[in-house]
Amino acid sequence: MIAIGSDHGGYELKEHLKKHFEETGVEFKDYGTFSEASVDYPDCAEPVCRAVLNGEAERGILICGTGIGISIAANKFDGIRAALCSDVYSALMAKQHNNANILCLGGRVTGRELAFMIADTWLGAEFLGGRHAARVEKIHNIEKMQ
Ligand code: RB5
Repeated sequence: MIAIGSDHGGYELKEHLKKHFEETGVEFKDYGTFSEASVDYPDCAEPVCRAVLNGEAERGILICGTGIGISIAANKFDGIRAALCSDVYSALMAKQHNNANILCLGGRVTGRELAFMIADTWLGAEFLGGRHAARVEKIHNIEKMQ
């Protein structure tokens, strides 16, 4: 299951992405926001991060206006590797090399169809491990230092 969430800046893209996932058979759960009313992106990041960390969701997708604020917030959670992607190559690398467990998108900067391709690419990719695992481990070592 994919946990999906956004603030108001990402709400429209979230709704389109949900429709896309319904059409392509991707199981998801929407953690809000549920309208275009203004909300704070750190509050929207939290439930999706917690769902990924507690195993309720395999991966998460978070969307705000640029994808920047919600990715910064998500990356404050110990164990979250959130990757803001605006191209397909980065989406592939985000999983293969960085083992990103959350994909972030900018609802006001990335077109709908491109966002679908980015999400599909990331969802279809697997972590390559090996030397990349050692590097990801070093990220977790930084978390332990805090
Ligand atoms: C909200 O206006 C906007 O600041 C937010 O969606 C996001 O772009 C922040 O990084």
